[in-house]
Amino acid sequence: MKNKYLYIETFGCQMNVHDSEQMAVLLAGIGYKLTEDSRKADLILINTCSIREKAEQKAFSELGRLMKLKEEKPNLIIGFAGCLAQHLGAKVHSRMKNVDLVLGTHNIHRLPEMVAAIQKERKKITQIDFSSKIHSLNVFAPPPKGSLCSFVSIMQGCDNYCAYCVVPYLRGPEMSRIPEDIIDEIQKLTRHGVKEVTLLGQNVNSYGKKLDHGCNFVSLIKKISDIDGIDRIRFTTSHPKDLSDELIDCFAGVPKLCNHIHLPVQSGSNRILKLMNRGYSSEEYLRKIDRLRDTCPQISITSDIIVGFPGETQKDYQETIDMMEKIRFDSVFSFKYSERKGTAAQKLQGKLPEAEIKHRLKELQALQDRHTQEKNTALEGRVEEVLVEARSRNSEHDMMGRTRSWRIVNFKGGPELIGNRVNVEITCGYLHSLRGKMIDH
Ligand code: 5AD
Ligand code: SF4
Repeated sequence: MKNKYLYIETFGCQMNVHDSEQMAVLLAGIGYKLTEDSRKADLILINTCSIREKAEQKAFSELGRLMKLKEEKPNLIIGFAGCLAQHLGAKVHSRMKNVDLVLGTHNIHRLPEMVAAIQKERKKITQIDFSSKIHSLNVFAPPPKGSLCSFVSIMQGCDNYCAYCVVPYLRGPEMSRIPEDIIDEIQKLTRHGVKEVTLLGQNVNSYGKKLDHGCNFVSLIKKISDIDGIDRIRFTTSHPKDLSDELIDCFAGVPKLCNHIHLPVQSGSNRILKLMNRGYSSEEYLRKIDRLRDTCPQISITSDIIVGFPGETQKDYQETIDMMEKIRFDSVFSFKYSERKGTAAQKLQGKLPEAEIKHRLKELQALQDRHTQEKNTALEGRVEEVLVEARSRNSEHDMMGRTRSWRIVNFKGGPELIGNRVNVEITCGYLHSLRGKMIDH
């Protein structure tokens, strides 16, 4: 049988990257081999993100480019998957005639069946039904060869309905995987050499709420911590309103849990937090930060912030800046507010001029860069445990890995170190990485 080739282009978050890995595994089952060359492909999948307008535009422009390939190769199958596919549904077919398949976020497991139907009957398919069960997350995607770190989805969807966010509409209600399936997947991953897992979900802190298994997120972490071969556990994303004291205590009590938490604050203004429907005040958020730092003084805290939410006054924005000054995050992902169809925020008055949002974002990012740089410089002279992942991109004489606090470290060494946890003395802190000297392993 002639080899068939699959090309996947992924946009957006880790969740999408993971979904794409699963798609590749499923399609390998019907004879498709991954290629990095889109011109060689018999099947092209574009896995889209819809969280901000910019991500949507990127997916459309890539789709435009790839659709031209079909003019030269009429048998090429083009699939449009992910959040944007879920949002647009069959409209994609009328807008873009070259697309064969529109695949929603709950239907990844049906991909082989649909591709086979298109191959046979050359028909157009849209599959965007929501399911009341988790199918897709249970597809085991072996990590790429040599990977030490892997993502593991522990839940899908979200029930929080933050006013600006499309995720609950496009990924459906929150559903947790049963703990046995998660443990089983991680055990398999260890057999492929994985040593570090990052547990993925839109709000991992509420893991297990709807399960009858009596397992919450803390008990899941403890179960994973008992798995031989797993050295490090991380998780993302956390919602501040659901971050329990019991979970905070794990940063002191579970040695395999890494000292990093991504805790999106979104804004420092109570008025805006309320409009955003976030379910906590800035004071409550600050109390959680204090508790995290009391429990684990070396914890690294990163966050997401949205600038220019409708009605954000100069005073509201200043409160976000004041909060950043108070907390001094290790790093922040900051975004311009992007209006999304169907969300509660779309109906709010007080849209800000683009120039003002840009100005605020630039100032906020400059402040965060200063904090990140100061934090990284403060690590100089300290010894950090680094899990050696690969050769450094900067030099063939260097290796790279991450600290437990998720910082990238480059240091002199050879590939025989890959897979080891080594002690590295930090010699220089840059904005996006650290430089170090290995002292032992
Ligand atoms: N506009 C801007 N940023 C958004 N985010 C989610 N929705 C929007 C939006 N409509 C950001 C939030 C979230 C991160 C994943 O993306 O900060 O935490
Ligand atoms: Fe979106 Fe809020 Fe759910 Fe995060 S918690 S996915 S921001 S609705």
